Amino acid sequence: MSRRYVRIGGWGKYLPERIMPNSELATLVDTSDEWIRARTGIAERRIAAPEETTCTLAVHAARAALDRAGLAPRDLDLIIVATCTPDYANMPATASLVQDALGAHRAGAFDLNAVCSGFVYALATGSQFIQSGVHQAVLVIGADVFTRILDWQDRSTCVLFGDGAGAVVLQPSDEPGGLMSFVLGSDGAGACSLYVPAGGSRRPTSAETVAEREHYVKMQGREVFRFATRVVPDSVLQALEQAGLGTADVDLFIPHQANVRIIDAAARRLKLPEGSVFSNVAHYGNTSAASVPVALCEAIDEGLIRPGSTVVMTGFGAGLTWGTAVWRWHATAAAT
Ligand code: ACO
Repeated sequence: MSRRYVRIGGWGKYLPERIMPNSELATLVDTSDEWIRARTGIAERRIAAPEETTCTLAVHAARAALDRAGLAPRDLDLIIVATCTPDYANMPATASLVQDALGAHRAGAFDLNAVCSGFVYALATGSQFIQSGVHQAVLVIGADVFTRILDWQDRSTCVLFGDGAGAVVLQPSDEPGGLMSFVLGSDGAGACSLYVPAGGSRRPTSAETVAEREHYVKMQGREVFRFATRVVPDSVLQALEQAGLGTADVDLFIPHQANVRIIDAAARRLKLPEGSVFSNVAHYGNTSAASVPVALCEAIDEGLIRPGSTVVMTGFGAGLTWGTAVWRWHATAAAT
């Protein structure tokens, strides 16, 4: 029996209209455009409108991906939404809301939470359903409205994040390519380096937790920085080795867009040639699970990914978690 490969048949992104430049943040907290640019490379980010939610952002990105794939919502077998900012804190899953909004009546739906590594985790997960022959069309979405869990009085976190969504449609192919290898990792010992202390079963929401601002993100920035600059190159090398490839074989490296200094440090350690690393962090900040798929969409639209291109996508974030996927682009998927 011939092997079944997975290909990306469609892709789409959605960014909220409202742009918040660094200068606006400087009116909220004690910060400056110079500090934010120098320490992170971020110039501006998008902020969801009050009526927008993770689901509505995800649906925009999903519709674009389905259009590009030439599929109708009823063709979908499964929807996976990677997010850490679901519409509802506990239930139901945002993926079910997306399934209903799309009218994807045949599809199963579930959320996956690996925070900023979420899209790579979901890509690897969704690919299994295609490669095994169980499903014909899987929608994988990375979406977050991270600005809703930010403490707008905390300058060490509120300057870093933005909102967005990106989606891909996974389909089977007889042609070799698609997911060549992946590495998923976790170090839960670092859970409190980046977390929301209250609102879960460990510390349910109460008047006290709200008064203490414990329902907002807390982060040890330097620890996360050190972790990221270590795990990104390590997991990329591990995934490439599994695929039987080296860094010289990589046409485009799409890292999680958290901080340009983390991206540059990883690129230096991996000795990646100039021009092979994609970055749009200046415009969107860190959009969590949306960051890698939004970057992927922009790289495709800019003509940076062609048939046969080897693309390495890598994420890292709260958990702590990390994930890298090596993807060989199919000819059919790149034709626009
Ligand atoms: N404006 C001005 N000054 C600031 C700001 C700000 N927005 N934020 C912090 N500072 C100050 C600090 O108070 C500190 O002052 P001090 O020296 O008087 O104490 C000084 O700037 C330096 O602070 P550091 O934390 O050492 O700055 P650093 O160079 O490490 O940069 C940063 C901070 C940008 C947060 C960096 O550590 C980083 O990017 N870490 C990784 C964060 C990350 O990527 N998180 C997301 C992971 S993905 C996910 O799962 C969500």
